[in-house]
Amino acid sequence: MLWRLRDATLTCIDTFAGSPEHVAADIDVSDLQATFERNVALVDSSRVRTLVGDSRRVALELLAEGARFDLVFVDGSHYGLDVLVDAVLSWQLLGDGGILVFDDYVWGELGEDALLRPGVAIDAFLTLVDAKYELLFADDQVGLRRVAYPTAVDDSSAAGNRCGHVG
Ligand SMILES: C[S@@+](CC[C@H](N)C(=O)[O-])C[C@H]1O[C@@H](n2cnc3c(N)ncnc32)[C@H](O)[C@@H]1O
Repeated sequence: MLWRLRDATLTCIDTFAGSPEHVAADIDVSDLQATFERNVALVDSSRVRTLVGDSRRVALELLAEGARFDLVFVDGSHYGLDVLVDAVLSWQLLGDGGILVFDDYVWGELGEDALLRPGVAIDAFLTLVDAKYELLFADDQVGLRRVAYPTAVDDSSAAGNRCGHVG
């Protein structure tokens, strides 16, 4: 993202503690943040704001400070309820015309239970915002563009060149 969008700034939320699937696969997550910072430094660290913490809390804080993004990529916790929370908060962090991308729509390594995978949560969210988005693509990733709609809540804002990244 940083490499392709040369003027973009990136806000990344991550616990850097890994996810249950990492634990299940015995993957060492002790070096996640350092690896992330090394990778970012290869392009341009000055355009990256890293917020260490749980997305369910940090995204709320971003909303409270009035942050808005042109694109949000959701790839944090894969638990259904967490994905639903990330989806709702990310939607509110987007301006009109903003793009929301979910990773791992068909992922299910922890089991078929709807609470253990992103897919059902993403479908539920899409039902909720029906007719308020344009579907851009849907395969292992789902991308949608938020369209303008009348709302009692001020959850939209002006566009710019800002990217959010959950997880
Ligand atoms: C599947 S990895 C994806 C990482 C990155 N998007 C990539 O493709 O390399 C999931 C990431 O989400 C983070 N994560 C898991 N649950 C989280 C939560 N509730 N809040 C913030 N980050 C979380 C993990 O630490 C991990 O880095």
